[in-house]
Amino acid sequence: MTENGINGTSTEGHASDGRRRSYAAPARVNLIGEHTDYTGGLVMPMAIGFRTVASITPREGGIAVFHSENFGEVVEVEIAALTRAPRGHWSDYPIGVLWSLAQEGITVPGFTMHLVGDVPLGAGLSSSASIEVATEMALLDFAGVNLSLEKIATLARRAENEYVGAKSGIMDQFVVTGGVAERAMLLDCRSLQYELLPLPTKAKVVICNSMVKHQVASGEYGGRRDEIEAGQAIIKRLRPGVESLRDATLADLEACAGEMSAEVMARCRHVITENGRVVRAREALLNGDLEQFGKLLLEAHKSFRDDFAASCDEVDTLVEIASRQPGCYGARITGGGFGGCTVNIVEMNAAAQFTNTLRDEYRKATGIVADCFICEASDGALALAAKQEAR
Ligand code: GLA
Repeated sequence: MTENGINGTSTEGHASDGRRRSYAAPARVNLIGEHTDYTGGLVMPMAIGFRTVASITPREGGIAVFHSENFGEVVEVEIAALTRAPRGHWSDYPIGVLWSLAQEGITVPGFTMHLVGDVPLGAGLSSSASIEVATEMALLDFAGVNLSLEKIATLARRAENEYVGAKSGIMDQFVVTGGVAERAMLLDCRSLQYELLPLPTKAKVVICNSMVKHQVASGEYGGRRDEIEAGQAIIKRLRPGVESLRDATLADLEACAGEMSAEVMARCRHVITENGRVVRAREALLNGDLEQFGKLLLEAHKSFRDDFAASCDEVDTLVEIASRQPGCYGARITGGGFGGCTVNIVEMNAAAQFTNTLRDEYRKATGIVADCFICEASDGALALAAKQEAR
């Protein structure tokens, strides 16, 4: 055991004796509303079928053992000695959740947790929120504690922000916890109120991984967030009644033009216009207007590429190829940016052909073989747990 209480080994195997309970948490794809969550804005993600499963069994002594089947590693932590000590390692996420619960006064005796998942890493599909929420669900059950959706998501986010050190917003943890099958979630990240929206039955959501790795914990995500927060502070100071970018209009932003750099202006313009697009995307979904929904996705991509400057050539190539395929209503980058996946809305009957052509043309243009998935909106961790209970 090291002085921070964490000990890493790379042996295989896990305890399977005694009571064993398993909790699953999905991944997510964000349909629209990017980099709006941490300024109290609007987002529209849905949970998808990739999963992390956390299985917990009691263990003698005050030791937490985390075994990742994917990494083939075991990490041990002395629960009472746990302090904030991130190591840039997969175990930061489950240990961060243990730490976050402890800050809330929720403590547990010794246990072994086995973690396994199929969420693509660094693809902008929220592998981190998936492991955090699966871990938290298992730990809460082990501690005999029931928490609300808002609280579960907030504590998982705290693990990510304060333990792992990634300055993410609340979107991922919220939808991974509270998503519902066949529904997109419109989340107001200021009030945490949400609305479940019907997805079109005649179209499919296709996710395409550019294979360019993205990481929220890396500097680029935080850099954009710093720019947004700097712009927000200026608008807040100069425009009475504006508490966050969520309240700001383009006229508010224009009025502050002399006070901020052109880059910061452009980043804030993305956030302000993106909040507007989410509102219009909601209307489009409620009206079953796929043309309009797809158009908003394309506009959102342009704003993310030009104003937010957080796309990359490979992802732009994917969007460009997608947008000229028959049956494609719209396409855009999804997630934190700087790589990762695109999300595409495609006519149901055209989806298989779309996926093949996109993969072929992308390979010809870049030499990269992309992974593409035709997705359904799936249940979040709470609904998955409730269904398991009911069986
Ligand atoms: C990452 C973060 C989210 C959100 C998105 C961008 O996924 O974890 O909180 O900021 O990027 O919309």
